[in-house]
Amino acid sequence: MKDYIDITDWSAKELRELLDLAVFLKREWKSGGNRPVLAGKVLGMVFQKPSLRTRVSFEVGMKHLGGDALYLSPAEIGLGKRESIPDVARVLSGYVQGIMARVFDHDHVVQLAEAASVPVINGLSDYNHPCQALADMLTIYEHFGRLEGLKLAFIGDGNNVAVSLLMASALLGVNFSIASPPGYALPAEALDKAHPLAEKSGIVIETHEEPEAAVAGADVIYTDSWFSMGQEAEAEARRAQFQKYQVNDALLDKAGTDVVAMHCLPAHRGEEITDEVCDGPRSLLFPQAENRMHAQKALLVHLMADR
Ligand code: CP
Ligand code: NVA
Repeated sequence: MKDYIDITDWSAKELRELLDLAVFLKREWKSGGNRPVLAGKVLGMVFQKPSLRTRVSFEVGMKHLGGDALYLSPAEIGLGKRESIPDVARVLSGYVQGIMARVFDHDHVVQLAEAASVPVINGLSDYNHPCQALADMLTIYEHFGRLEGLKLAFIGDGNNVAVSLLMASALLGVNFSIASPPGYALPAEALDKAHPLAEKSGIVIETHEEPEAAVAGADVIYTDSWFSMGQEAEAEARRAQFQKYQVNDALLDKAGTDVVAMHCLPAHRGEEITDEVCDGPRSLLFPQAENRMHAQKALLVHLMADR
């Protein structure tokens, strides 16, 4: 049995197969509907943090595939508080055929996966967001018709979204650059993990402080909130540090001629990204959000369908 906790647990070949399946399922859905390959199956969705895209895309995706999904709110389960994480995993494994969990501490989703006897999908942790990166690679692939040799520049916090994009890029042959303020760079252990993958796929990883340096020659400029869920108390201090890390038209103009803008959403318009970019001709933000559902359907089918 396989889980989807960290994108680097999967090989480049397996990720490409998932992307091919996502393209197929998206086309199938748009031309009349998906076959009910998950009929009778239920996904348990454990949330310790809020969500729009992750919750709705998983729930609707399960229904499209003939299955169902159960939303378990932060108040209900009390992961590790009301009940131990392994016990939650063992109990849920008796009711549902797959678990998706959004947690604070990355180790909590790892513990869930270790104790569960059904596949566990990481729907975001403080360390990473592998479902987002899978959907983003699908979006980039659809837009450019390829992944290999492109360059993605991430502007802002070296956070969970940045970590998963780094890993997905290194596996799938996308050159990766990042510009972050001092003190907000990618974690060293993430870079250590990505470097051997980059060597294998032949991509370049660049780390910068200046946004202009990171976007040179970029095909994709990506950003995310200056503060993540759980860091609300740091918002004011971070706003002061991140002022020049805004994705606006002037920054896009410094990149490649066919550059596109991406953001995992939710966006703080006027902070890390402007309205003109979100709603402009170079924005992929909303196809990107829709692709969360198509990419995750591939994951659900791969992990939960009978063979
Ligand atoms: N991008 C993303 O994961 O959105 P939600 O937090 O709304 O699920
Ligand atoms: N970095 C953000 C991503 C939200 C989808 C957070 O963790 O809040």
